[in-house]
Amino acid sequence: MNFIRLSDVNLTGKRVFIRADLNVPQNDTGVIIDDTRIRASVPAIRNALDQGAAVMVCSHLGRPTEGEFTPEDSLAPVAMRLADLLGCRVPLISDWINGKFTVKPGEVVLLENCRLNPGEKADDDTLAKKMAALCDVYVNDAFGTAHRAESTTHGIARHAPIACAGPLMASELDALNKAFTQPKKPLVAIVAGSKVSTKLTILRSLAEKVDQLIVGGGIANTFMLAKGMPIGKSLAEPALVGEAIEIMKSMEARGAGVPIPVDVITANEFSSQARVNKILAEQIQDDDLILDIGPRTAARLCAIVADAGTIIWNGPLGVFEIEQFGGATKMLAAAIAHSPAFTVAGGGDTLAAIAKYNISDQVGYISTGGGAFLEFLEGKQLPAVRILEERAQSVAH
Ligand code: 3PG
Ligand code: MG
Repeated sequence: MNFIRLSDVNLTGKRVFIRADLNVPQNDTGVIIDDTRIRASVPAIRNALDQGAAVMVCSHLGRPTEGEFTPEDSLAPVAMRLADLLGCRVPLISDWINGKFTVKPGEVVLLENCRLNPGEKADDDTLAKKMAALCDVYVNDAFGTAHRAESTTHGIARHAPIACAGPLMASELDALNKAFTQPKKPLVAIVAGSKVSTKLTILRSLAEKVDQLIVGGGIANTFMLAKGMPIGKSLAEPALVGEAIEIMKSMEARGAGVPIPVDVITANEFSSQARVNKILAEQIQDDDLILDIGPRTAARLCAIVADAGTIIWNGPLGVFEIEQFGGATKMLAAAIAHSPAFTVAGGGDTLAAIAKYNISDQVGYISTGGGAFLEFLEGKQLPAVRILEERAQSVAH
């Protein structure tokens, strides 16, 4: 990937517009529940401030209606958290498009939720030009929003005098490329979740690349069905059995594989009070619900992970939120933690599992991207990255 990095640009005395992804989860009263994305955005801001830039930080929050401000759409709680982390004042600027605000070199302001501006979502070019006029340097550090072509992630990058990637964006792309484009082999992907349909493109894309494709959750159930195995009343998509067969066939043809569960944890209801059975896959009864992979299968998967060169992890294996259905995910997390492989993990549930089993320090890279991470795995070009590459091209020529 060829883009200009923030570290390549001199920001002293410049007006710097940093697009960050500060779209953090909040509770009903607006309190930030997880500030990971804010903390991850600090290095770019601090770097620009240290260089004596006049810094404008921009982000969306949620999906507000353009032109209709309501207090819950405000980045005010984020401004407070950012001020704590930076140890300086972070004034929040509303109605900032016209540039009627001041920010001096060495100071930072937060621009109110960019999705309130009419035209943002549609990547309106007039809006993008107005934004570009606010700055000398545009920095995109919002990997989490890189799959969206909007005025602050895409259009502005076309018109700003200089457009570069911030350190978070660069590390995300470096880690993903290391795992995906130039992986140390064997490459193992773990793709788990309730439905094959929502991850079909990822499964297909990974099926062409990886040595082992570990499936979990409802996705594994559909693959078991494709193997002609009983799954009782477990969640599955019979209509996608054909796709699952195709994936397994194409992988087997090149010596790769999809390990299919040989044992499972079942219950007859989805509940923490349910009686749990640890059984071989062939013993599954009509009224059984598969809620986790069994210990024999988990041990096989752990061996695969232990021998891997690279691991891409998206999705927990079972219903790990409920203790008795978390065994396989817990074992896998421990195996990942101890594996010498370079692991890239992403997706909300995966991050929750990493936190629950306390292995974050032992995972090579934890992505801040949800949808963006998934689209990268699908093999799609992220529009916000593509425009940075285009700009780097035009500088080079
Ligand atoms: C995310 O949380 O996935 C990003 O911030 C993008 O948000 P969006 O899905 O509302 O575009
Ligand atoms: Mg909202």
